[in-house]
Amino acid sequence: MTTYFIDGQFLSKEDVNISIDDRGYYFGDGVYEVIKVYNGSLFTAAEHIARLFQSAQKIKMTIPYSEQQLIDVAKELVKANEISTGHIYLQVTRGAAPRVHQFPDFSVPVVVTGYGLVNPRPTTNLEKGVAAKLVEDVRWLRCDIKSLNLLGNVLAKQEAYEEGCAEAIFVRDGIITEGSSSNLFGMKDGIVYTHPATNLILNGITRQVVLQLCEENGIPVVEKPFTPQEAFEMDELIITSTTAEVTPVIQLDDKEIGTGMPGPITKKLQAAFALRIPAFVTGN
Ligand code: PDD
Repeated sequence: MTTYFIDGQFLSKEDVNISIDDRGYYFGDGVYEVIKVYNGSLFTAAEHIARLFQSAQKIKMTIPYSEQQLIDVAKELVKANEISTGHIYLQVTRGAAPRVHQFPDFSVPVVVTGYGLVNPRPTTNLEKGVAAKLVEDVRWLRCDIKSLNLLGNVLAKQEAYEEGCAEAIFVRDGIITEGSSSNLFGMKDGIVYTHPATNLILNGITRQVVLQLCEENGIPVVEKPFTPQEAFEMDELIITSTTAEVTPVIQLDDKEIGTGMPGPITKKLQAAFALRIPAFVTGN
């Protein structure tokens, strides 16, 4: 049975009581994080929690815990849910108040919730790669905030799924920004390209790990946006995220990418990533 964290308490699902007036429910007025767990250990937890606090600050919300306290909550959720491989979800909303758009009075406490879930690594996708579909990026201009408002992402992912694709790749003003729940990298002639960390993308923690791995492995990186046409002509494409890790994209729309198989830089990055995983495990 899943154990949830609700405002300082660890509870089973039937004991959870969230107000229908929660602003997360009315407005998506909140922020969240997904943290991977490998072999019972949190992966890059400090980075995720730091980003949670940055997201909260960007929407002018104060989290009533310290970063260390939330890391401890995440650790407790790993234990309580007996997670070997899976993830922790943490969410903070601006609390429960009658539905008016402006912020409630500061006396209304923000609501911090979380849970842990067993979730195996996407081994087939990692080995074989996935297909992706280009979708117009109609989201707002603060995609750097990990906000609960995910309608643009949800609609794009659904559009991709309906065409048998694992991910939607956003295009804004003729350039590729990121995936609906991932970042995108392209490799051409030995150089790795990705959109810079601006307001138009979420600066993924996995993205940052991959940038470090490129540096450590002498793989040159240019943080520069590229177009769909340039994407079609890449030797390799990958998406990165907490759950997708380093997943090859072998088809974009109806075009095969490179050889149609995971390429050499992708494999090198996957191997380097695997070495970062706490007590590397191959399955769940
Ligand atoms: N999504 N871009 C978007 C829009 C995302 O939603 C995510 C992650 C990423 C990758 O970020 P990271 O490497 O820190 O996971 C990029 C999570 C996994 C989700 O919403 O489920």
